[in-house]
Amino acid sequence: MSLLTIENVTKRFGGLTAVDNVSMEIKEGEIVGLIGPNGAGKTTLMNLIAGTFNPEEGKIVFDGHDITKLEPFQVCRRGVSRTYQIPRPFPDMTALMNVGVGVLCGKKRPNMSLVDGMLDASHCLEFVGLFGKRNILARDLSLFELRALELARALATTPRLILIDEVMAGLNQAEGRVAIRLIEKIIEEFHVTILWIEHVMKIIMEATQRVVVLHYGEIISSGLPGEIANDPQVIEAYLGEKIA
Ligand SMILES: Nc1ncnc2c1ncn2[C@@H]1O[C@H](COP(=O)(O)OP(=O)(O)OP(=O)(O)O)[C@@H](O)[C@H]1O
Ligand SMILES: [Mg+2]
Repeated sequence: MSLLTIENVTKRFGGLTAVDNVSMEIKEGEIVGLIGPNGAGKTTLMNLIAGTFNPEEGKIVFDGHDITKLEPFQVCRRGVSRTYQIPRPFPDMTALMNVGVGVLCGKKRPNMSLVDGMLDASHCLEFVGLFGKRNILARDLSLFELRALELARALATTPRLILIDEVMAGLNQAEGRVAIRLIEKIIEEFHVTILWIEHVMKIIMEATQRVVVLHYGEIISSGLPGEIANDPQVIEAYLGEKIA
């Protein structure tokens, strides 16, 4: 069953069409990679799903509900959560409180006391390996810790779909491996659906089941990771430059 359906969605910034008549579907439980050159419109597409922007044209349906014009907090409550390309914590709040915001904004919010919320947040921090840093202000965390914090906050909302915008950027190899392992663990334990933007092709090839390629706001290809890697159009638009 389709969990997310994007139909003919377009987003313009002035004269620039950042997302151009994009249609795609994600089924429950799928791990879908979203790739393409810098400026292709990947983050913008995520922002449209998450409600940060509303599209000028087209429709976005999540779990049978039209979410095209909803605000981010409403999309979150329906079960869509996200991480940011550049981490966006609340810098003057502790790690625990940052994740607590996720809990209290998420799907379970109406039934949850503050105490239970903080307990939930602790579990999420523990899950990503940050429990020991629970009382540290987010501004004092390393980039790697902030990436883990974002995943914890996303998890805390009890999502069905997590939008991950570049978890590897800026991490060293060892940190990258831990981050990937963490996402694998999230998939195993929470059975979430994931749309995953990543420039590291090895990760896309190994960790995703299907890949969608954006170029100048348009989908130029989609298919199994192995098919995408051999698609001449994708090699010309994106992979050629990466291999070089
Ligand atoms: N808020 C905004 N206002 C104006 N232009 C924007 C805005 N956000 C994105 N853009 C433009 O839209 C286009 C798509 O940007 P987007 O950030 O979606 O690309 P991306 O595929 O995520 O790239 P990258 O791989 O570098 O993160 C770019 O030309 C960008 O400059
Ligand atoms: Mg981006």
